Amino acid sequence: MEYARTHERTAPLSAKAQVETLFDSLALEYLRERERQVSFVSQKHIAIDFLGAAKGRLLEVGCGPAVMMPELLAMGFEAHGIDVSGEMIRRARQRMTGHPLEKRCSFSVDDVERLHFAGGSYDAVLCMGVLEYLPRYSRALAEISRVLKSGGTAVLALPNRASAYHVARAAYVSLRAFERRLRGRRNPYRLAHNRCVPWRFDRELAAAGLRKLQSRACNFMFFPLQEFAPRVADSLNRALLPFSGAWFAPLLGAQYIVKVQKAA
Ligand SMILES: C[S@@+](CC[C@H](N)C(=O)[O-])C[C@H]1O[C@@H](n2cnc3c(N)ncnc32)[C@H](O)[C@@H]1O
Repeated sequence: MEYARTHERTAPLSAKAQVETLFDSLALEYLRERERQVSFVSQKHIAIDFLGAAKGRLLEVGCGPAVMMPELLAMGFEAHGIDVSGEMIRRARQRMTGHPLEKRCSFSVDDVERLHFAGGSYDAVLCMGVLEYLPRYSRALAEISRVLKSGGTAVLALPNRASAYHVARAAYVSLRAFERRLRGRRNPYRLAHNRCVPWRFDRELAAAGLRKLQSRACNFMFFPLQEFAPRVADSLNRALLPFSGAWFAPLLGAQYIVKVQKAA
């Protein structure tokens, strides 16, 4: 199943190396904290619901320290997790060692923009919180589509740039940067986050041969409540979760989750 290909138009190595270094350094924190975060728990429930009827071989792209893996194995999948961070993969293997279903999962270091799997080798793909670290989605979506079998399901989650939280926060960050420039001060370096606009992302999915079946938006966060009163913000977020499928959810939910099917 292993093969090598040359790819044009991938992200510059330096950008990818930055992401790799960042997540190498965050691996332990993710292992300890991720399952407790309201933002993670709400998208996890939706992702599991979306994967519901799928069966067989699943590829988890950007699996981190395998926080989703026990759930995926319990659903009956035979799962393989890939991540660009070597440290995340080391933690993932460590976490699953001794798990009763350990033999049904495996891990490797890989890049979603150049997956080392043959076309049509997976029944399902899960990709949560990964695409925002790429300058553009097209190469990754093409790869996800390629490794999926015809009729296979993919569930993808990424931050929603059109949500009230990200609109307000981006405006605040821009104003602060402008003010610092006026005062002749340098702005701190921030890793770029390529958040999606849901309706544009849907068009990119279609261009990659992935037909949208269902979508929801979750993580009902509000700026600056999230920053100043995180506990209140988390309670509000939990209370609003039942509205993740409502017409207004893409305007309020900071995370967009979509279920697609590879065209037959
Ligand atoms: C925010 S974490 C999410 C981890 C996990 N999916 C979760 O929801 O808990 C993003 C993960 O994507 C991985 N990642 C980022 N860019 C990637 C790429 N090009 N290929 C594969 N993994 C990548 C990071 O190393 C990191 O582990």
